[in-house]
Amino acid sequence: MITFAPDIVIAGDVREGLSRTPKMLPPKLLYDAQGSALFEQITCLPEYYPTRTEAAILTAHGDEICSRLGRNVSVSELGAGTATKTRILLRSLLQRQSRVNYFPLDVSDAALQLAKDEVERELGAVNVNPHVGDFEDLTFLAGQTPPRLVLYIGSSIGNLEQEDAISLLQNIAQQLSRGDQLLLGVDLVKNSDVMHAAYNDSAGITASFNKNLLVRINRELGGHFEPDAFCHVSFWNEVSSRIELHLESTCSQSVRVDALDTTLRFYQGERIHTENSYKYTLECLERLLQRGGFAVEQTWTDRDCWFAVSLGVIT
Ligand code: SAH
Ligand code: AVI
Repeated sequence: MITFAPDIVIAGDVREGLSRTPKMLPPKLLYDAQGSALFEQITCLPEYYPTRTEAAILTAHGDEICSRLGRNVSVSELGAGTATKTRILLRSLLQRQSRVNYFPLDVSDAALQLAKDEVERELGAVNVNPHVGDFEDLTFLAGQTPPRLVLYIGSSIGNLEQEDAISLLQNIAQQLSRGDQLLLGVDLVKNSDVMHAAYNDSAGITASFNKNLLVRINRELGGHFEPDAFCHVSFWNEVSSRIELHLESTCSQSVRVDALDTTLRFYQGERIHTENSYKYTLECLERLLQRGGFAVEQTWTDRDCWFAVSLGVIT
């Protein structure tokens, strides 16, 4: 498996994000090994509806989705994580083709290792080729044999700003050819109490996931953050149609980060913006796919219309 020196990769992002006003950190930094493990716990929380809702859509419609795919597709996946839900689709696909070449991409090598182990243990006819890397480099897609299916599920596209989401889809489209398909999963706008609870769980796992960013900076960059001197803040921003995650300083404090040779100053109540999770309407989802270069073939939702999975094709 390809690996890289994490301290080199995160230093630039941390320096840049924490020197902005307001301070921010890119959400991809949430996923070191511990962050990926905490995300797995989030997916099982009673309040965190997206994973089980999308899994139910894939279970109910997996055969129909696969019936709309090309013959003998190769499957790649952006932000695959541990590929737990992907196994639902791979199982359906194996009823139509005898083997699947599967290419998961993720920044988290720990999550990818689990994905490979679990997919190979459960589905011997799937050949797993993990790729540790960032969405910024999608050239691995072009190397696969058409017809290709790209998975971008889990509402991970919701963690991107809308212009970045469109650019990413356009970059995917650029690597593909006519007839190749994209299956996109997005979380839909719903009652704000439901969304608020999903990011403010009573067990505090989302808070730990958020604060783990500071633990990571301490470990990888010689940071001296006191995670308990920050609190997890998450709320629904209706105007922007997104859940926001922040870390809020509980006091006035200075924090040294040795590898950056810098001391950061925080006033009481100052926040680091760590993540946005955009929620879409069905109309916005279809427009997003079209602006990204895909023609919408079909969209599936659950009965409550909480989550949508949409199949797009390059025409
Ligand atoms: N698809 C899985 C995991 C979603 S969590 C699911 O639906 O449950 C989001 C995943 O995207 C994480 O595993 C994270 O490591 C990965 N990720 C986030 N930003 C990324 C980036 N810029 N490049 C590659 N992977 C990224
Ligand atoms: C990966 N992504 C879609 C999750 C989300 O819901 O936006 C990340 C997450 N952040 C807090 N909880 C889950």
